[in-house]
Amino acid sequence: MTGSALRKSLRKPAALKKVAVLASGRGSNFQAVIDAIEAGTIPARCVALITDNPKAYAIGRAEKHGIPVTIVDYGKFGSRGAYEKALLAAMRDAGADLFVLAGYMRILGQEIASEFAGKMMNIHPALLPSFPGLHAQRQAVIHGVKLSGCTVHFVDDCLDGGPIILQRCVTVLEGDDEDSLADRILEQEHIAFPEAVRLFCEDRLSIEGRIVRIRE
Ligand code: GRF
Repeated sequence: MTGSALRKSLRKPAALKKVAVLASGRGSNFQAVIDAIEAGTIPARCVALITDNPKAYAIGRAEKHGIPVTIVDYGKFGSRGAYEKALLAAMRDAGADLFVLAGYMRILGQEIASEFAGKMMNIHPALLPSFPGLHAQRQAVIHGVKLSGCTVHFVDDCLDGGPIILQRCVTVLEGDDEDSLADRILEQEHIAFPEAVRLFCEDRLSIEGRIVRIRE
C-alpha cells in the first residue's frame, strides 16, 4: 500500500455537511446534486432550496425529495437592496456549510459574497475566464471556439470570476448552435457539479489566492 493509499484508508469518514441550493429555474443541476446525495456519493444533507422565482421548476424537485423550500420572490421587493436583505436572512436561516448556485440567475451583492466567501460555489456553462455572464454557450458559438465546457468555481464579488474548482471540456462541433452545444455542456455540468460538491463536503478543497487546491 502506498503512503497516500494508507492515509486515505485511515481517514475518518467526514461528518455530513449541510448543503443549501439557490436556483431560479429548471434545476437540473440541483437534481444532479440531490441524486448524488441520495446515492451516498456526497456526504451531505440538502437542507434548503432557496429561490427568487415562485414558478421555478426546481421547487417541485425539492418537494419530491422532502427538501424545505424558501421563496424570496424578487418581484415582491421594491428595491434590489431590500431583496438582498431578505435573501441574506434566508441564507443565514438555512445554516448551511455550503451554498450552491445551481442556475441562480441573479448577481449576488457584495455583502452576501463576503459573508459566504469560500462556502459558496457556482456552475457556469463555459470554460472561464472565457465567456462570463449570460448566454455563455451563444457567446462560444459566435466566437468560433473549438472547445467549450463548464466551470465550477467559488463565488466572490466578481461576476463568474472566483477561484476555479473544476472544469470539463466539450468539443464544439461543425454545425453546433447555442442549443445543441448547451445540451452537451449540460451533460458535463451534471458530472462536474456533484463532483465539486463532493470534494467540498469531504473537506478536500482549500483556496490559496486564486488557486483551489484539491487534496488526495
Ligand atoms: C446551467 O447551464 C448552469 O450552468 C447555468 O444555468 C443553467 C441552469 O440549468 N448557471 P439548471 O437550472 O441547473 O437545469
